[in-house]
Amino acid sequence: MSDALDFSRFLTPIARSAPPSGIVEVMRHGFSKPGIVPLWAGEGDLPTPPFICSAATRSMAAGETFYTHQAGIPELREALARYHDRVYGGLFGKPFSADRFVVTASGMHAIELALTAVAGPGDEVIVPTPAWPNFAAAAGLRGATVVQHPMRFGNDGWVLDVEALAEAVTPRTRAIFVNSPSNPTGWTADRATLQAILALSRRTGVWIIADEVYGRFFYGAEGERAASFHDILAEDDKVIFVNTFSKNWAMTGWRIGWMEVPPAIVETIVNLVQYTSSGTAVFMQRAAVTALEEGEGFLAHQVARSRRGLDIVAGTLGASSRVRFARPDGAFYLFFTIDGEPDTRKLGIRLVDEANVGMAPGTAFGEVGAGWMRMCFARGEERLSLAASRLKEWLDRKEQML
Ligand SMILES: Cc1ncc(COP(=O)(O)O)c(C=O)c1O
Repeated sequence: MSDALDFSRFLTPIARSAPPSGIVEVMRHGFSKPGIVPLWAGEGDLPTPPFICSAATRSMAAGETFYTHQAGIPELREALARYHDRVYGGLFGKPFSADRFVVTASGMHAIELALTAVAGPGDEVIVPTPAWPNFAAAAGLRGATVVQHPMRFGNDGWVLDVEALAEAVTPRTRAIFVNSPSNPTGWTADRATLQAILALSRRTGVWIIADEVYGRFFYGAEGERAASFHDILAEDDKVIFVNTFSKNWAMTGWRIGWMEVPPAIVETIVNLVQYTSSGTAVFMQRAAVTALEEGEGFLAHQVARSRRGLDIVAGTLGASSRVRFARPDGAFYLFFTIDGEPDTRKLGIRLVDEANVGMAPGTAFGEVGAGWMRMCFARGEERLSLAASRLKEWLDRKEQML
């Protein structure tokens, strides 16, 4: 390219240094391969149910196509409060207040707003890894320094050592991301771990950005949902929740989510909404109300389907002595490692070519993820069984070659 056409030199260093997604390379390679089973993306294969779509089309047909409340329509904020009452049984001994909620243009937008609100140039943000790459990239775009805190994998699965986490906190630390259940590992914090992290936040004044997006996709024995900061929160705790309609109600393409914050900062957050999305379309918000009020059956169906999916992939891969993983308690990913295959960037490409299965390389999820692969199991039984048997055949072939 001639210098004259190299416009990138005129862009900001921050824009230029945003990292490419580590998943895209495999996706590009395998996207149009005939018969591929793609398990690389972080979404299920079910479309948004018709009863949710109809709420949007009805609203559009009724002319709800204008600018609207930056914080979200009152009906949705109230529905969010009622939903949280149902799922978490109130907050601080009272029903949830609608004033705590701000509607956003996706979970990702909620993360961006949370970071803009609490961290900027010169600040540090701690991300326990392996982690969804967008946390670190979004912090970097705000000029903050990302401190990766590696979780440990051992006989007890993935472990977040909160004492070691405390050592990563410096006077410049502004926030810690806590994504439980985790994308990509499925690690799900128990209440004691959440309590220890909250104690750290209380001691140091550092914000917690709590991403409980997968909190309802829970396969542990103890209940219907994962443990949540809501279970232990006090009124003066510095916790910002980021969440989305994407996963629970199969609405990844819609781009609508929410934040839940202490009421004292709602106005500031709403101002940030003004200068980013300027609000979310009313017809999408009507659909979101319907999802919250009528979507429990669909969500339960998705969770049951994912649980079966987990049994299929864990059963098949678990039978191989070369494959190791911790059975996830939540989310819908199997994060696994294959002995003798340390370079998973290349492995992702090879598995497309040699097994016709598409998965995300662990390198996309932080340094500690190198050597691991992520497979999404939010799929129907047939597709997953096909993917699992292809992987098993591939493993058997490699075994014979050893
Ligand atoms: C952990 C986590 N948080 C947030 C999101 C954001 O979801 P969305 O931007 O689709 O609402 C995702 C999506 O994959 C995720 O995995």
